[in-house]
Amino acid sequence: MGQSGAYGGMQELMEAMEQRGWAQMAGWASAVDSLGLRQECEAACDRGDFRRAGVGKGVGLEVRDEIRQDHVLWLEAGDDSEQQGKFLASLELLRLALNRHFFLGLFGFDGHFAIYPVGAFYKAHLDRPTGTSDRLVTAILYLNEDWQPGDGGELKLWTTAGDRDGAFVLIEPRLGTLVCFLAENHWHEVMPTKKVRRSITGWFSQAAR
Ligand code: OGA
Ligand code: MN
Repeated sequence: MGQSGAYGGMQELMEAMEQRGWAQMAGWASAVDSLGLRQECEAACDRGDFRRAGVGKGVGLEVRDEIRQDHVLWLEAGDDSEQQGKFLASLELLRLALNRHFFLGLFGFDGHFAIYPVGAFYKAHLDRPTGTSDRLVTAILYLNEDWQPGDGGELKLWTTAGDRDGAFVLIEPRLGTLVCFLAENHWHEVMPTKKVRRSITGWFSQAAR
């Protein structure tokens, strides 16, 4: 991914995180790398590796159709492919930059592929489950080619910390775009999608897992 020139955006991303608590970076991953990841996502889906995503944690984890309708496959350390390795290496640079810049003690990254079938959504939520302190920063890479206005599936991200009524941005899930935000602060939602929507979503945590 170094060849894609994507890391030129790191400083810009840090500034956005500092000023607003969220950032959007088109071209974080090159088209070739993003399509490679998308292909892996598809192959794993064809193998039947995906599961309906749950809501809640631990024993409270349950599938709730009225809240979210995506299917996920967690990335496993050790069996990452070359494509995944490359992407994870870019996130490692992001993690180190966040730690340096904000004096955070971000430790690791846990992520999953996500597929939203046509019509699927994820209602407004915060990524840090109540009563937990592990997920500090959310990072999402979108894997969708030729996304057009009108295709739906936007990430609706409320821009003021703690506020889910005020100003928001709508971000199209375009191939290679990275979005990152403070997990505790920003309410967000995935609008119903009119095309199958693919991504890698994950979280930088403070604690070892
Ligand atoms: C999530 C989530 C947003 C997106 O998986 O928690 O909010 O744009 N995803 O895929
Ligand atoms: Mn979320």
